[in-house]
Amino acid sequence: MSTAGRDASPAASRLLARKSVADFEADIAQRGGLKRTLGKWHLTALGVGATIGAGIFATTGTAIVGDALRPGAGPAVVFSFFLTAVACGFAALCYAEFAAMVPVAGSAYTYAYAALGEFVAWIIGWDLIIEYAVGNIGVAIGWAGYFRELINHFGLDLPPWLATDYRSAHDAFVQAAGSTAAAADPVTRYLAAAWAHAPHVFGLPFIVNLPAVAVVLVITVILVIGIKESANANNAMVLLKVGIILFFIAVGIFLIRPGNWTNPELGGFAPNGVSGIGAAAAIIFFAYIGFDAVSTAAEETKDPGRDMPFGIVMSLFVTTLLYIAISIVMTGIAPWKQLGTAEPMITALQYAHGPPGLLNFSRLIISLGAVLAMGSVLLVFQLGQPRIFFSMSRDGLLPPFLSKVHPKYRTPYVGTILTGIFVAFFAAFANIAEVVDLTNIGTLFAFVLVSIGVIVLRRTDPGRHRPFRVPWVPITPLISIVACIYLMVELPSITWIRFGVWLVIGLVLYFAYGYRNSALHRGVAPGVVDASNS
Ligand code: ALA
Repeated sequence: MSTAGRDASPAASRLLARKSVADFEADIAQRGGLKRTLGKWHLTALGVGATIGAGIFATTGTAIVGDALRPGAGPAVVFSFFLTAVACGFAALCYAEFAAMVPVAGSAYTYAYAALGEFVAWIIGWDLIIEYAVGNIGVAIGWAGYFRELINHFGLDLPPWLATDYRSAHDAFVQAAGSTAAAADPVTRYLAAAWAHAPHVFGLPFIVNLPAVAVVLVITVILVIGIKESANANNAMVLLKVGIILFFIAVGIFLIRPGNWTNPELGGFAPNGVSGIGAAAAIIFFAYIGFDAVSTAAEETKDPGRDMPFGIVMSLFVTTLLYIAISIVMTGIAPWKQLGTAEPMITALQYAHGPPGLLNFSRLIISLGAVLAMGSVLLVFQLGQPRIFFSMSRDGLLPPFLSKVHPKYRTPYVGTILTGIFVAFFAAFANIAEVVDLTNIGTLFAFVLVSIGVIVLRRTDPGRHRPFRVPWVPITPLISIVACIYLMVELPSITWIRFGVWLVIGLVLYFAYGYRNSALHRGVAPGVVDASNS
């Protein structure tokens, strides 16, 4: 059943054991397989839908202005968007080769099991928790910021200590205490009030991001009951996202003051030079995460060899064009120094010069659109995480309760609920920039492993049918590896430490559980545990 290196020691050969494509096909036959209905434009829509979210709506502010851990790019953030898109493009080609070759559900975890063996598959699966669940903590926090903006339009507000996180409140409080200009800024004032007026529990201010928790819990309930994913609903959501962004660009073009791009008092176009552009590229990588989600639909694609690469590359291309246009407009309508908030598009309109009625209306439309757009990203990733757990559990690498299917709703409900609790808990307290950094390093690492996988598999299994071949191997995957490592290096050192700790926990879990329980090694077919008969 397994395909292990012949010359390796028994222990090493266990770690390198691969699940063959025949095994995957047997799994598919066992559970009936999925219907192949998706074409290249469906896949593009899927990618765009999974991609446009908190990255562009929320993290762009930190990329432009920077924070205590990194310099900002200023108006040169447009180069950061371009740089990251190029890096993602090379990785996208590698994803496409795998997705077309192993056209079954499961994303990078599945490819790694087929190509690189169980150990690397485990690392990627463990790492994907960072991309999906930790990423969603960031999206939930971003969602909460725009939600507050939205309810403000209707004269409602939340007490500050129920709408932010500990670090943002503390930093704003310190800033406001140290400068009258900061104290006069409405955003800083609101956040500082969270620190000043929070109730105290055990002597510490109690600050919790209630909307972020609430949205995650609502989505978790929806996913446990089961959501009928329909291509039409996704297409409508994609149109809405693209529509909102085009609306921002269309309104913003008329508000641009070219002086904002080059203002010498603010350091000109690229105030922190290459280091600012690089640091910003590493953070806005978050905005691109999601094109790889196209690969999870490989099993439902009509012609994966042709459509998969098209869908992945085209969704990346479309989002890149939109992001570049947004960043040009955003930094053209307001002084870039003002944009360092979690709702930079709204902030840009607050500082723009134009008819107040139009600006107010635009803010309303954008906050409504952003809430819906980020809600759909939350849904996609919150849906994806339990399914990765499900695959890993069926393979014996995680405990069987994670592949329990609800007797009535037929959803992987235990994994869905656990994911919901994990995401909601951290969304309550975490700071968006910290969460985004961790998500990025984890996802970039997965991209590196997938790119290595392409090179390795070309050598170890040259005869395998590859409906799509990455051009110029090993050059293209090597560029992808170097570009992703460059972006990882641009992330703060605390992020590396957190990521290292995460990987060590993963290794301990693998050797304590997965190594011993792997279905592949025990020679048993992966099974589905049904809650109704367990
Ligand atoms: N790319 C996704 C977002 O920006 C994760 O929300």
